[in-house]
Amino acid sequence: MMEELEGLRRSAESDLAAARTEDELTHIKTKYLGRKGALTAILRRIGSLGPEERQQLGKKANELKDFLSQQVEAALVRIRQEDRARKLQKEKIDCTLPGRRVAFGHKHPITIVREEICEIFGRLGFTVVEGPEVETDYYNFTALNIPPDHPARDMQDTFYLDNELLLRTHTSPVQVRTMEQMRPPLRILSPGRVYRPDSDVSHTPMFHQVEGLMVDRGVTFADLKGVLTYFVREMFGPETALRFRPSFFPFTEPSAEVDICCVICRGSGCRVCSQTGWLEILGSGMVDPAVFENVGYDAEEFTGFAFGLGIERIAMLKYGIGDIRLFFENDRRFLAQF
Ligand code: FA5
Ligand code: MG
Repeated sequence: MMEELEGLRRSAESDLAAARTEDELTHIKTKYLGRKGALTAILRRIGSLGPEERQQLGKKANELKDFLSQQVEAALVRIRQEDRARKLQKEKIDCTLPGRRVAFGHKHPITIVREEICEIFGRLGFTVVEGPEVETDYYNFTALNIPPDHPARDMQDTFYLDNELLLRTHTSPVQVRTMEQMRPPLRILSPGRVYRPDSDVSHTPMFHQVEGLMVDRGVTFADLKGVLTYFVREMFGPETALRFRPSFFPFTEPSAEVDICCVICRGSGCRVCSQTGWLEILGSGMVDPAVFENVGYDAEEFTGFAFGLGIERIAMLKYGIGDIRLFFENDRRFLAQF
């Protein structure tokens, strides 16, 4: 029976060393120390031995029982430590991995193009000034030689706020405001939002214009053509086809609109250019003496030219965009391309 106890100890020790989980450990504990366990069975048999043997073996068996109980406790501590180490290993953070990138926003295509326009004219000495979007009837129309009830008011449908105030239909009122404040020579550029009740593939109710104005002694139509041709070539490349088309504006005389060859269809005609092959990008002309008179400039002494260009049109041509409304729908898939 002594050998039996010794064998039990060895087998229990090797079982305990092999145990990997708390469940396995419980199972081993029951197998040796449980009510129907191997050691319990031996202890029972010891009861039926003679007194000497009983004392000797009983002592041994109880020592083994204590020893195994301690071993089970120790194995439990070991298993819990191993579990924890495994878990920590699994949850370990690799701080050498590159971080997740933050998605940066970027400039809207209209902003990019506006900045480029201002930069090109800036090289020719034009400086930026601004004017209000809520404008008076006087600055938007009357001072620009468009008196009340004049049919030219129909050229630009208007959002009126009341009888006197309106959302400016163009950036031209900034010409008047600037000339009231400054004396020639002047070269100014005025970008900003304008509003008209228009909506189709090349018109939106809110859009952007850049107004330009140059006034000095001896400014001629040749200067206008030179400056605007320089702009178009810088913006779209030296080979760009453009044309000056005679036009009418109450505040300029003579007047011309500038078209450039439609980049969507390359001139063959499409819905963006209304099948003409050309896209109008700006209106321009020599400042009408009546406007000079309204701001107190002497039209005998000074001449000047002005122009107003549509930023969206320029952006459409530059990026080959077939529908102006895309700029204002805030679809990130569209905006992320610029
Ligand atoms: C004017 O607004 C004049 N003030 C321009 C001007 C300034 C002429 C100085 C002479 C001297 P027009 O209505 O043609 O002109 O508009 C100018 C440009 O704005 C057009 O060539 C076009 O590029 C753009 N544009 C006009 N309406 C819209 C619209 N609804 N949506 C987008 N762009 C438009
Ligand atoms: Mg026009």
